[in-house]
Amino acid sequence: MRRKLAAGNWKMNGTGVALSELETLSGSHPTSSVEILICPPATLLHRASNTVEGSGVTVGGQDCHAAVSGAHTGDLSAEMLLDAGASAVILGHSERREDHGEQNEDIRAKARSAMDAGLQAIICVGESLEQREAANTLDIIGGQMSGSIPDQATGENLIVAYEPIWAIGTGKVPTLEEIGEVHDFIRARLERRFGEGVGRSVRLLYGGSVKPGNAVEIFAVSNVDGALVGGASLKAEDFSGIIRALENA
Ligand code: PGA
Repeated sequence: MRRKLAAGNWKMNGTGVALSELETLSGSHPTSSVEILICPPATLLHRASNTVEGSGVTVGGQDCHAAVSGAHTGDLSAEMLLDAGASAVILGHSERREDHGEQNEDIRAKARSAMDAGLQAIICVGESLEQREAANTLDIIGGQMSGSIPDQATGENLIVAYEPIWAIGTGKVPTLEEIGEVHDFIRARLERRFGEGVGRSVRLLYGGSVKPGNAVEIFAVSNVDGALVGGASLKAEDFSGIIRALENA
């Protein structure tokens, strides 16, 4: 049985005042059948980890460097995230692929480092609108998966998030059939590469304009084990609505 996961990505949003939302969220979910993860900006990680202590909420990072330590000004290692209280890290988000030119092999190296440090790696894949319109979606996702998922992946250390780039922050969502097609494809690829046991235990998240209003139908799609949520994770009330939908899925 795969435990459902509601993951929030605050992106570059939030200073200390935003911790009050996290306090409300953790107060509303002292325990949950669902794993609840918030990935705040790195500057808030340590305080966020103290805020959620003893609740059903955990915290994670939004990126890490592939190296353990060294001369990499401005970067953070997986071990540092762990030390600040993280249990997971988002890797290869399309905004990082775009803003920082991250390639599949960079993401694979980062994921290796995150897994070595004991963090769960949430590896993001997803097609652009042009790629979808050209019917290249599955090729793109397949390439991103083989390029960015390291060989040491297991059901415990890997989570794959399918995030169509054109659905992120736009209010546009693929049809349920489109989501199902990609999630089934990702599951089949994982089973083929890692064997059925591991392939079936990796959790698959959908991301891109998930809101309390569309969460129920998205979570009913097969092989959707949760969501990676941007905008709607910033307000405790909205994110709680998504968590409740997942608890009842
Ligand atoms: P969104 O972002 O929920 O604001 O569309 C999703 C993401 O980028 O993870």
